[in-house]
Amino acid sequence: ALSEPGSSDLLAWYDCHRRRLPWRALPGEIADPYRVWLSEIMLQQTTVAAAGPYFLAFLQRFPDVFALADAPLDDVLRRWAGLGYYARARNLHACAVVVAREHGGVFPGTEAELLALPGIGPYTAAAVAAIAFDEPATVVDGNVERVVSRLFAVEEELPRARPRIRKLAATLTPARRPGDFAQAMMDLGATICTPRRPACSLCPWNENCEARAEGLQESFPRKAAK
Ligand code: ADE
Repeated sequence: ALSEPGSSDLLAWYDCHRRRLPWRALPGEIADPYRVWLSEIMLQQTTVAAAGPYFLAFLQRFPDVFALADAPLDDVLRRWAGLGYYARARNLHACAVVVAREHGGVFPGTEAELLALPGIGPYTAAAVAAIAFDEPATVVDGNVERVVSRLFAVEEELPRARPRIRKLAATLTPARRPGDFAQAMMDLGATICTPRRPACSLCPWNENCEARAEGLQESFPRKAAK
């Protein structure tokens, strides 16, 4: 049997290979919850590469949650143009108004409180809690599903496997540096543990991966026939 993947191996890899992305704090810097929240909403509908310039332009016009809350909705929608899904921009503005007026401009720090805000669902609540507040929340997106399903050779098919994958991901999440861990999982999925031809020789968990041990890494995650 393989030894379990350890978070410290992934975090050491992340310290060397983390992507420099415009919404990420530099090592040692304190994350800004507003930027983390804004980037996570944008990234739900846009690739990392496409989101960068939008994120920077948006941040220049609306540098903090008060600037966004005080702006007319029209202006927010105009600056969102190109990103699509205008319901998301409306919710973004609504959320800024609630944070500015009811929380004194301070984003709440727990998953449960974040979930109560407009436009924040389970994914965004977990991502902001982990990345901005270092809460040990488990963040599961498509990248993480692929990484976890390969590590544990999860035979169950998506989407039925989601609860199992989530539980496995939660067991991997460390008490220390959970925010970096969440972003490291995303980076690993985006740059190493890719859907096709994953670069297993560069993976910090290649000795811990059940799919690789079987030579079947590309066949996970299993998916129900369409
Ligand atoms: N996709 C969604 N959120 C992300 C993040 N914080 N870093 C990289 N990719 C992401």
